Amino acid sequence: MERRVAVIGAGTMGSGIAHVAALHGYQVYLLDEQPGVVTRARQRIAQRLQRDVEKGRLTAAESEQVMDRLVEAEWNQLADADLVIEAVLEVMNVKKAVFESLDRTVKPEAILATNTSSLSITELAAVTQRPQKVVGLHFFNPAPVMKLVEIVRGEETSEETVSAVKAFAESLQKEAVIVQKDTPGFIVNRVLMPLFIEAMRIYEEGIASKEDIDKAIQLGLNHPMGPLALADLTGLDVDLHVMDYLFQEFHDDRFAAPQVLRRLVRAGKLGRKTGKGFYEYSES
Ligand code: 3HC
Repeated sequence: MERRVAVIGAGTMGSGIAHVAALHGYQVYLLDEQPGVVTRARQRIAQRLQRDVEKGRLTAAESEQVMDRLVEAEWNQLADADLVIEAVLEVMNVKKAVFESLDRTVKPEAILATNTSSLSITELAAVTQRPQKVVGLHFFNPAPVMKLVEIVRGEETSEETVSAVKAFAESLQKEAVIVQKDTPGFIVNRVLMPLFIEAMRIYEEGIASKEDIDKAIQLGLNHPMGPLALADLTGLDVDLHVMDYLFQEFHDDRFAAPQVLRRLVRAGKLGRKTGKGFYEYSES
């Protein structure tokens, strides 16, 4: 794998992926269609790096080099990227439009990866002329911290593509698992969404307070955070999209989104992104 990586979408996941790639020596092009988003992402990354400097994990010079490697780019600069990671909104048509444009812009030998957390890789690959070079590369939030990457094969993803992104993930000091079949939710979200749903139903049914539900799972199962706090962290709008997609694909009540989640999302309470979700956050 060459050293030029482009990340499309500078939200929580895109900026986290860009951060970790730049930290591990890649030249990173970061793009977002919304003005100002890349600038804010770079500011957040600079603050994280500053913390690393204060803690003695990086020198000030290294932190500067990381920021120098991470540049805001325009579409036409993507032509020479070796790997593109799409991290835009979790909506199939939005992602398809991005993949169509990428396929026209980026050199034919480049790999086009998606950070989708549940959608079909095969369906996305079908809008390109290079389905063998399209693959799922699913990072977890917060991307600089979480060790796992799910690598998801589409129907036509080549062995060479899987090996290349596995080597890439390992170069970021991540552990990769290979999802051999392109199925909705892959491994983690297929397990996580029913956990979220059950915790939300327990809350809706008035069985316990949200704090006690989270405390029970945290201390009873040794999870770093409870499911309601984690649902806020991942973004309630994202969680709802994922549940609705899994429900539509599997026709199974295991994935039926609770009303409380729909109400919060409709009210614009999207978790940490807005400072409000199941919990209130003083900083978003
Ligand atoms: N970016 C970079 N670093 C971050 C960070 C971020 N957004 N958030 C936290 N960190 C770092 C902190 O700097 C700190 O590092 P340091 O102590 O070495 O400086 C370290 O992580 C621990 O952070 P905190 O001390 O602030 O807090 P905690 O110890 O409580 O850890 C947590 C926070 C890492 C978020 C931890 O609670 C955790 O692991 N939670 C579970 C997260 C999880 O399950 N994520 C997966 C979600 S599912 C998903 O993403 C799939 C999607 O498709 C829905």
